[in-house]
Amino acid sequence: MSFSLQLSHAAPASVESPLLAIVLSQDLSLDDALRAVDVPLAGAMQRSIARRDFRGGRDETMLFVGGETGAQRVLLVGRGSAPLTRAVARRAAAIAARQAGKLGTGAMHIVLAGADADAIEGLALGAAAGSWAYPDLQTQPPEKDRRARLTAVTVIGADTEAVRAGFAAGVAVSAGQAIAKRLGMMPGNVCTPETFVEVGREIATRHGMHMTVLGRAEMEQEQMGSFLCVAQGTPEEPRLVALEYRGGAPDQQPVVLIGKGLCFDTGGISIKPAPEMEWMKFDMSGAGGVMGAMEAIGQLKLPINVVGIIGSTTNMPSGTAVKPGDVVRASNGKTIEIINTDAEGRLVLADLLVFAKRFHPAIAIDAATLTGAIVIGLGANAVGVFGPDKAAVDEVLAAGAAAGEPGWPLPLWDEYKEQIKSDVADLKNTGGRAAGSITAALFLQEFVDGYPWVHLDIAGTAYSQTDLGWIPKGPTGTPVGTFVEIVRARARR
Ligand code: BES
Ligand code: MN
Ligand code: ZN
Repeated sequence: MSFSLQLSHAAPASVESPLLAIVLSQDLSLDDALRAVDVPLAGAMQRSIARRDFRGGRDETMLFVGGETGAQRVLLVGRGSAPLTRAVARRAAAIAARQAGKLGTGAMHIVLAGADADAIEGLALGAAAGSWAYPDLQTQPPEKDRRARLTAVTVIGADTEAVRAGFAAGVAVSAGQAIAKRLGMMPGNVCTPETFVEVGREIATRHGMHMTVLGRAEMEQEQMGSFLCVAQGTPEEPRLVALEYRGGAPDQQPVVLIGKGLCFDTGGISIKPAPEMEWMKFDMSGAGGVMGAMEAIGQLKLPINVVGIIGSTTNMPSGTAVKPGDVVRASNGKTIEIINTDAEGRLVLADLLVFAKRFHPAIAIDAATLTGAIVIGLGANAVGVFGPDKAAVDEVLAAGAAAGEPGWPLPLWDEYKEQIKSDVADLKNTGGRAAGSITAALFLQEFVDGYPWVHLDIAGTAYSQTDLGWIPKGPTGTPVGTFVEIVRARARR
């Protein structure tokens, strides 16, 4: 299903549209352009405001039947009293898009008076987020009973270079997020490691990127015993995919984005309990985020070098699976005692972090649905952010905040390292329940050598277990926005 976004500089009152959405803050001010929309409505909009029926609160909506000409329907959407940011505009546009989806209008115009470039970007992102769906595996009702999906959104904005750039960014990032969300929604039998090869190839072809694919044999040659021990329980071919985008000078060190791509995580021999295990199809969200970010970066043609690396497999119990007590050797030579086969993400990432070094990263950022502990610690509202380098962590925190994917820092103190010392090997793959997200990050750090590094634990933020109002239950698109924001900010330097 195609979805298209357009930017228009037309006056809202002149727009012919099945639905015109108007985003208002709690101060409810209508400028002349918006008051003109009220003329064919015989002043209904202003009466609703005067009667305090519509108050502009966050997520509040009110629908008006339009006149003979212009907009066939007018939807007021509240954005509350918080300062206007990309995330605030995004949320309001998503609410509007979901309403359009329920009505079946097919197309929509949206306006937020005085929107700057960032707000315009938010409107584009939100319109795409609110209309996103994954209908592939469901039988559709007959045409006559069906409401049209929202497939065309026009954002009304000022005729300036900045607004055009903000809009273009919104289009690119939402395309990337659509890729990440689609992969995140796909069940484990549909999204396999091979899917990452296919999606990677499409992105590489579209944007002229160089792609490297490793399978089991190549990983054996690279001595990736850590990644491979996770993959030894599944007959599926594990895949490492690297995409190289070269938008900068040939000698410029790249930003390297790394993603955990577990197409399903049963826990392996240390098998997970059955309730909600189906959720573990989302365990490839870091890798999906890398793919989405590479698409967005390719679309934006950013003047910078970026490498995206994903490691994909499926964590299964079987006669060949790795078991607790086994010791494996990663590609940097370090030995790992497997305490719990369910701590598999860090084993995959270990070899990816060693692999990343060959690209001489200016910075490497990994994203992984790494620990249940981060879900307990930060819930669905903050990404766990870890790193030994304060400047790099601050850079990533700023990018996440701007992108509406806020993160929160956690410490990587040496004291915690005691928990991952092994009697038999260099390291244990788990450090017990206490500070589980921190010991996981400290484990990763053992495989980082010679480049600034930040780790994002997105286990709580990549997939929403409930309908959030502005987006339905399911994949959220995190961390695509953060990844792209980091790269955009560096491209501006
Ligand atoms: N993919 C999971 C992390 C996860 C768990 C995300 C629950 C969302 C909800 C990861 O591979 C995992 O299983 N981690 C274990 C580590 C433990 C065995 C040290 C966890 O967090 O329970
Ligand atoms: Mn696991
Ligand atoms: Zn996992």
